[in-house]
Formats: sequence, structure tokens, C-alpha cells
Amino acid sequence: MKNIIIINGPNLNLLGKREPEIYGSESFEAYFKTLQEDFPALALDYYQSNIEGELINKLHEVGFSYDGIILNAAAYTHTSVGIGDAVKGISTPVIEVHISNTYSREEFRNQSFISPNAKGVVLGFGLKSYALALQSFL
Ligand code: DQA
Repeated sequence: MKNIIIINGPNLNLLGKREPEIYGSESFEAYFKTLQEDFPALALDYYQSNIEGELINKLHEVGFSYDGIILNAAAYTHTSVGIGDAVKGISTPVIEVHISNTYSREEFRNQSFISPNAKGVVLGFGLKSYALALQSFL
């Protein structure tokens, strides 16, 4: 069975409450249960932090042993050289995910420090972006 971890960055702990017109009204904890039911062939873990260094530490911790990482670095996607370097430095493939279509929003969201070293990118499909990314591991 493949071990996959979903890593969410800052403010994604507020999913369900935060800007529901953009991010929907479901909490990630509730959606994670749905993902576990829908992907019984994958062993799924979940980690969220609002702190850049903690996200980097988690990437180092899982990045040489897991089969895949689904990373929504949220706002750090557009600012963090450190997270980009961590993605580059680990051997586990990383799929970058975003709930919203970052290209249809403010211009500063067009830049990603993750994409150049990601195996793939899924964005704009709401929470379903995570399910689409997980499918690539089946
Ligand atoms: C996001 C998009 C980012 O630009 C934003 O800062 C987020 C969430 C998304 O999933 O759509 O916090 O990563």
C-alpha cells in the first residue's frame, strides 16, 4: 500500500470558515475522511501548519520514505524559497495542489516556488483538486 501525505500550509486550518465563496464551506478534517473512504488503496496521512519552518521540517521528515506528497503550501507557495528548496531536496514526488485557480486571481498568485520541482500541479477544482492529485498515485 502506498503511503501518501497531504500537507497543508497557512490558513488552510480555517477551511469551511475562511472566504467560503473561494474555498467552500467544508472543513478539511471532514473532507479528509471522505478522501480516506474514496481511496482505500492508499494509506493517507494529513499535516497542517501555519509555520513555514514546520512545513519544511515535515517535508524533510517524510520526503525520503513516503511514496507521495500532496502539498498545498497556500500563501507560502508564492513567497517561500525555503519550501521550494525543500521540495527540490527530497526524493519523494510532490504534487502541488490549490483549491482555487490561482491564475484567475491576483497577479502575485501567478508565481509558485513549488511548481518548478513538483511532479505535477492540480488547481482550481475546489477540494476535488486533492482527489485528482491522489488519483495519480493509483
Ligand atoms: C491556495 C491559493 C493561495 O494563493 C492562497 O494563499 C491560499 C490557498 C488555494 O488552495 O487555492 O491560502 O493555495
